[in-house]
Amino acid sequence: MCGIVGYIGGRQASGILLNSIKRLEYRGYDSAGIATTIGGKILLKKDIGKIDEVDKKVNFSELKGDIGIAHTRWATCGKVTKDNAHPHTGCGGKIAIIHNGIIENHSELHEELAEKGHRFVSETDTEVIVHLIEDNYKGDLKEAVLVALKKLEGSYALGVIHSDHNELVAARNDSPLIIGVGDGENFIASDVPAILDHTKKVIYLDNEEVAVLKKDGLEVFGLDGNKREKEVHEVDWDSTQAEKQGYKHFMLKEIFEQPQAVTEAIKGRVEDSNIMIKDEIGLSEEQIKKINRIIIVACGTSWHAGLVGEFMLEELVDIPVEVEYASEFRYRDPIVDENTLVIAISQSGETADTLAALREAKKKGAKVVSIVNVKGSSIDRESDSVIYTYAGPEIGVASTKAFTSQLVVLYLITVYFGKLKGLLPEEQVRNRVRDLRKLPLQMQSVLEEKDYIKLHAEKFYQRKNALYLGRGINYPIALEGALKLKEISYIHAEGYPAAEMKHGPIALIDKDMPVVFIATKDDRTYKKVLSNIEEVKSRGGEVIAIESKGDDDVKKIVDHNFYIPENSYILTPILAVIPLQLLAYYIADLKGCSVDNPRNLAKAVSVE
Ligand code: M6R
Repeated sequence: MCGIVGYIGGRQASGILLNSIKRLEYRGYDSAGIATTIGGKILLKKDIGKIDEVDKKVNFSELKGDIGIAHTRWATCGKVTKDNAHPHTGCGGKIAIIHNGIIENHSELHEELAEKGHRFVSETDTEVIVHLIEDNYKGDLKEAVLVALKKLEGSYALGVIHSDHNELVAARNDSPLIIGVGDGENFIASDVPAILDHTKKVIYLDNEEVAVLKKDGLEVFGLDGNKREKEVHEVDWDSTQAEKQGYKHFMLKEIFEQPQAVTEAIKGRVEDSNIMIKDEIGLSEEQIKKINRIIIVACGTSWHAGLVGEFMLEELVDIPVEVEYASEFRYRDPIVDENTLVIAISQSGETADTLAALREAKKKGAKVVSIVNVKGSSIDRESDSVIYTYAGPEIGVASTKAFTSQLVVLYLITVYFGKLKGLLPEEQVRNRVRDLRKLPLQMQSVLEEKDYIKLHAEKFYQRKNALYLGRGINYPIALEGALKLKEISYIHAEGYPAAEMKHGPIALIDKDMPVVFIATKDDRTYKKVLSNIEEVKSRGGEVIAIESKGDDDVKKIVDHNFYIPENSYILTPILAVIPLQLLAYYIADLKGCSVDNPRNLAKAVSVE
């Protein structure tokens, strides 16, 4: 994972790099470093810890020079040590590099280079790259990088500087890297938020491309050395979206942005009884009618969105749907043909497993429609078509607004398909659209209960375990609630279909086990869930219920109630998840956890 940035221009690089790399801290945060070049020398400072901690120790602002590279690390190869932190330099100390990715043949290369006399100081795979470039350097940095890259197997996003060159060389293969085009200055970064303060003009580097950035221009080449023309895109995010704007954490801000994010996901896509996603989905009416199977591939929270999508699509569109962990999909020879539609869901668009599943599906002849938040990401570019969630930058590692926006897009696809297949008459589509339009205000009303939810967090934050139970379309919400709690508060939490509890987890229930039920009135399994609640209560469990406003039946039998407004059954998850996000957030904050950057996690999991 890791975040990388690079700068070349007329200003002091270190300050710009420091601010930019902080914007990428969600990609990794166990060590950080910056290297600049000035007066024929490389200056470098790095250490372990989060960026601010490292800055306090080393004072990055002492690094002079107007060309530089910076890195925030999420360790993959080599422990968290100062030596393993990036940037890495070659033996002569004239070349410095930053790297995101994994070099699979690093052991062989290490051996070869060591035999030639290169001295290694770290345990990282990255260090072989800098020695390889050094080994092939004959006065032309780009040429040395090109020769080195041909020997590498694996993934990389690279930034390279040399103390004798007024240029910054960048390269990518299967790890994200963009170029920011400024006025008299240019940037590289793993992700757009890093450079939004300076430019909105972006070039998306493709795999096996190398860029040479100078102060006043840039060129892009293929690995064969031939020049390539690249399109400059204008991004529609602004820098304030990538700031906390008074919220204590990005996660809290993003939870509160959900009504707006959902509004953006709907905007321009619905009108009366029309769902206007034809161009985005890129499938003809005939192709849609021929779809006989849908496979949804995703990871983590996006996988939970897929599970909700399965309920939506099977219920209204009458097509069998399978939801696959992207990481498993390609290892079991899936049955896919030209009438299979594969939907890949990813906030970042860079999740390596989802990308690999997408490639496998395409290889087998399926059409891949993706639901993606980050424009220009790998999944965006490799899918046959993409429906963006338009949730804006999501910085908190725990996904929140991306999830509810993904559900809205899945709902739009469902209603669109249902209408085209003649399963949803005009009147029903109109009603479905009306239900959808109710959501932002309803979400707002749930968010207004934040203080009440916080009070409950105070009751539960010292517990060691929690169980989340739901049925039907709310079962994935139980999984999502449990994931949110465990990833940011480190409290062990399990999500289960409520009825499965009797087959094992019920043994865990005692007075110390809080059990969260999603028990909304409109759920067709409502009565059964009431029985499941009784089963927990009679074993001494403490029950917290997400329930429909005005429902006294649940209220009577549970210990704590969070109310959500009523909407149609298949939209309930979008409302039900909000109290669970807030509960997890407040518990983690009370525990003093690093909410936005939980331990061991990174926002975009770009390694398999
Ligand atoms: O960017 P993606 O949606 O592909 O990411 C998938 C998962 O890595 C992600 O949802 C992860 O589970 C989050 N930490 C959940 O909050």
